[in-house]
Amino acid sequence: MKPGVSIRKSDTTFITRQFRHDDLDDVIRLNLTCLPEHYPKSYFIMIYSSLPAAFRVAVVGNKIVGYTMGKIETGLSNFHFLRRAKKGHTISIAVSPHYRRLGIGTKLLLESLEAMKAAGATEAFLEVRKSNISAIKMYEKLGYVTVKTLKRYYHDGEDALLMAKKLI
Ligand SMILES: CC(C)(COP(=O)(O)OP(=O)(O)OC[C@H]1O[C@@H](n2cnc3c(N)ncnc32)[C@H](O)[C@@H]1OP(=O)(O)O)[C@@H](O)C(=O)NCCC(=O)NCCS
Repeated sequence: MKPGVSIRKSDTTFITRQFRHDDLDDVIRLNLTCLPEHYPKSYFIMIYSSLPAAFRVAVVGNKIVGYTMGKIETGLSNFHFLRRAKKGHTISIAVSPHYRRLGIGTKLLLESLEAMKAAGATEAFLEVRKSNISAIKMYEKLGYVTVKTLKRYYHDGEDALLMAKKLI
């Protein structure tokens, strides 16, 4: 790029697609940059293998700028008292700082939720740090509601909000 030339954010074109094994190092780098919760390589592969269609990446040019991954769990419903439900659990989502507020996080999450729904999930849930206002706002915009606070959920003692959304 010529000195002084900058790319306007609004001109950024991104695509989203399913994760591939050769994306792994980039996804791990993004995870290390964007979040305090990190995982071994084998965990990413395990989550991918459990529901490949729910592991999505966003790409600008040939650069991975966002990802989300999730799995299906069966347990107590967050919406129906004492009823069991198949639930889509979003494990992790991140967008590179330079590419935020472009709708990438929203698109990744919506596509991942579609995959969870197609796999039979009737609701979705996730945990988010109480202080993570930008993520909480995105989840609320997508229809998630706060179900409860999980006290000292994170290793540094911060509380999490358990947020959930009906998929049907
Ligand atoms: C949370 C995150 C994934 C959002 O990704 P994104 O691509 O910027 O999100 P979107 O552009 O789709 O934003 C969707 C909506 O979320 C809300 N939002 C996102 N970032 C926000 C911010 N910094 N402040 C206020 N609202 C924000 C807005 O309502 C936004 O809609 P708008 O831009 O039309 O106002 C991104 O900020 C991120 O990677 N954060 C660090 C990692 C992280 O915290 N992950 C979540 C862990 S639970």
